[in-house]
Amino acid sequence: MKFSIKNVDPAKQRSGCVVVGVFEPRKLTAAAEALDKVAGGYLTAILRSGDMEGKAGSALMLHKVPDTLCERILLVGLGKERELADKGYRDAVRATFKTLHETGAGDAMLFLTEVPVKNRDTAWKVAQITIVAMESIYRFDRLKSKVERDQPRLRKVILGTVDTRRAELAASEEALQQGLGIAEGMNLAKDLGNLAPNICTPTYLAQQATEIARIYNLKAIVLEQKEMEKLGMGALLAVARGSSQPAKLIVLEYWGRTKKEKPVVLVGKGITFDTGGISLKPAADMDEMKYDMCGAASVLGTLTAIAKMALPVNVVGIIPTTENMPGGNATKPGDVITSMSGQTIEVLNTDAEGRLILCDALTYAERYEPETVIDIATLTGACVIALGHIASGLLSNEDELAEELLHAAEQSADPAWRLPLWDEYQEQLKSNFADMANIGGRAAGTITAACFLSRFTKKYRWAHLDIAGTAWKSGKEKGGTGRPVPLLTQFLIGRTMKNKPLT
Ligand code: BES
Ligand code: MN
Ligand code: ZN
Repeated sequence: MKFSIKNVDPAKQRSGCVVVGVFEPRKLTAAAEALDKVAGGYLTAILRSGDMEGKAGSALMLHKVPDTLCERILLVGLGKERELADKGYRDAVRATFKTLHETGAGDAMLFLTEVPVKNRDTAWKVAQITIVAMESIYRFDRLKSKVERDQPRLRKVILGTVDTRRAELAASEEALQQGLGIAEGMNLAKDLGNLAPNICTPTYLAQQATEIARIYNLKAIVLEQKEMEKLGMGALLAVARGSSQPAKLIVLEYWGRTKKEKPVVLVGKGITFDTGGISLKPAADMDEMKYDMCGAASVLGTLTAIAKMALPVNVVGIIPTTENMPGGNATKPGDVITSMSGQTIEVLNTDAEGRLILCDALTYAERYEPETVIDIATLTGACVIALGHIASGLLSNEDELAEELLHAAEQSADPAWRLPLWDEYQEQLKSNFADMANIGGRAAGTITAACFLSRFTKKYRWAHLDIAGTAWKSGKEKGGTGRPVPLLTQFLIGRTMKNKPLT
């Protein structure tokens, strides 16, 4: 699908389909009014007939409207004008593309960037349309022997604007590129998450990282078992013991600015399948534990997005990756292991494995003298209970960093919500036999998991994103969501604005 932005008169378009909004109750947007005028009140008549109220998410396709040059006009309901906010807008854009894909239109011109959305500018609307449009054509059918669906016919999308100011147009162009970058990163993250766990192994993730490095000219380093042993990564390797797939530590370096500038390090949990280990999980829905590498996938997706956009930032991705399996050699409850930091850990539950691979990766991150470290992990079921599938959990000891991330989450419509990381919770990790236990009991499970990680992040600014509820959808529409690639990419874009005066 190709996108472009054009300054045009809605009434003069020879398009396969012109898309305009209708507010509730029965109120045409400016672009719709322009069309209505040339069509001699045709649209007004349709509204009056009661066929289109303008309810949010509704759509009505009209064919060969008199005196217009386009083949079709799609009326999209936007709800009440004064109430239009993120969700209503994104729903309307989703309805637009769903309806367009059901027609034979090969190209469409959308007049949806000028409708007022609460607290949002044109650039935001352009980026959202791009992302939602790309989501609407995402398919994961590479594991099917026959592809059932037709290819989408819609190939060309023009975002029509009536605003002629140059600055506005330039901002929209930039937003379009950002939207495309984010969409590409999300697609990669979804693909990796959706792939079967017998295919998407630690070795496969390492190959993917190497491939991304080749395409975008980044530096990839893959540490093997031997090297990890030498570094003393006893926690990561303790998780890998039960699996016959070799564990890896993947590093991807993107230097968009001078190397003298300290990088942002993104650490992504890469458990390619989580059986729970000896503390075996119940059978129901265990297949979903193939998504336990979505933190890793979001790191690769974000690096893809910023590399595609050639963003002037320094970012290093670190991915500890292994399976968590109950093999004969597997770590047992009661085992005490020594992490790369030297701190010892009593493993009371082998299903709390994410924090074990992350803690060594977080220690490894120190060598980059990072400006900031953000880890991203499908870490706790407790986070799903606390925040559901809407917001990712955010925990940080740095208020400023937490604010920056929450702002990026808000900007990118990829919500996150902060939970406290107070010292009082650290008590729950006390062990009788080692420096700490790897679990803190049922209460505040998301917080105690972050408390565990915080013991390995003393040397830099750090934040943790728990994406257990947001990285994929269950049920009939099961599949990766590509989150939190929008949040992370937006965070890095925000950084470049701060950096701009320096360049
Ligand atoms: N990968 C899981 C977390 C998870 C569970 C994500 C359900 C998405 C849905 C993680 O490794 C895990 O098993 N966590 C345990 C921790 C517990 C043993 C302290 C959990 O949340 O139950
Ligand atoms: Mn687990
Ligand atoms: Zn896990």
